[in-house]
Amino acid sequence: MPGPSGVMPQHVAIVMDGNGRWAKQRGRARTFGHHRGARATRSAVEYCVRNDIPNLTLFAFSSENWSRPAEEVGVLMKLFMRALRTEIRELKKHGVRLRFIGDLSRFSGPLQKAMEDGIAETAQGTKVCLNIAVNYGGRWDLVQAARQVARAVERGEIKADDVAEEHFSQYLTLSDTVEPDLFIRTSGETRISNFLLWQLAYTELYFTELLWPDFDDAAFDAAITAFRKRERRFGVLSEQLERAAGA
Ligand code: IPE
Ligand code: IPE
Ligand code: MG
Repeated sequence: MPGPSGVMPQHVAIVMDGNGRWAKQRGRARTFGHHRGARATRSAVEYCVRNDIPNLTLFAFSSENWSRPAEEVGVLMKLFMRALRTEIRELKKHGVRLRFIGDLSRFSGPLQKAMEDGIAETAQGTKVCLNIAVNYGGRWDLVQAARQVARAVERGEIKADDVAEEHFSQYLTLSDTVEPDLFIRTSGETRISNFLLWQLAYTELYFTELLWPDFDDAAFDAAITAFRKRERRFGVLSEQLERAAGA
């Protein structure tokens, strides 16, 4: 019988949502939820290290999140800075290679420097590649790739009529990484919110009601179990997949 491949995902992408509601349920300020969310983030990274998931992409701050109240944005920036100061050593120890995707130019000088240092410090990691999406938007990603394709056309390297999918994908962020197999969004919201628009074309989507600070190992296990039961057809028929697998 054709069916689920049962394989582990090679790349998991997560929209870590629900910090504010988690805090509100406890009568606390939204920022308390972000602090607890940071703990859940650490535990998700450790999960990938332990379970041989080689690529993890986390949506930490969207290009639209700048429009939140200045105080909340300020706390988030402080939290990033603190995490960069305190977590790099652990990441390095566990073989995690840290990268950032998004338009980093909008961040303060010291924060940009801390990100660069984190990337450099962990560059030798081979166990898990951790991509943190900050000031990231899927539309921004497409537009910056389009700009680079246009420049290649201007230089005469490609003819406009020959522009193909691979020209775009080579300039998109994460071009060197397998596309996400599994997308997880917490907090019961069932939308993409301008995350990886191109890269999610054939990703399996998984939604859970849990709020991000409550997303623990058991919750990650449940997402992986659900993923392993899925049959990914990529537009063809089950019978064709079965034949290809038997061949
Ligand atoms: C996700 O939690 C974290 C960020 C977007 C930075 P939220 O802050 O969106 O929490 P809710 O969705 O308001 O509960
Ligand atoms: C998406 O969550 C962005 C991050 C988790 C960083 P939001 O909370 O910003 O998304 P919406 O506003 O519910 O779509
Ligand atoms: Mg939210």
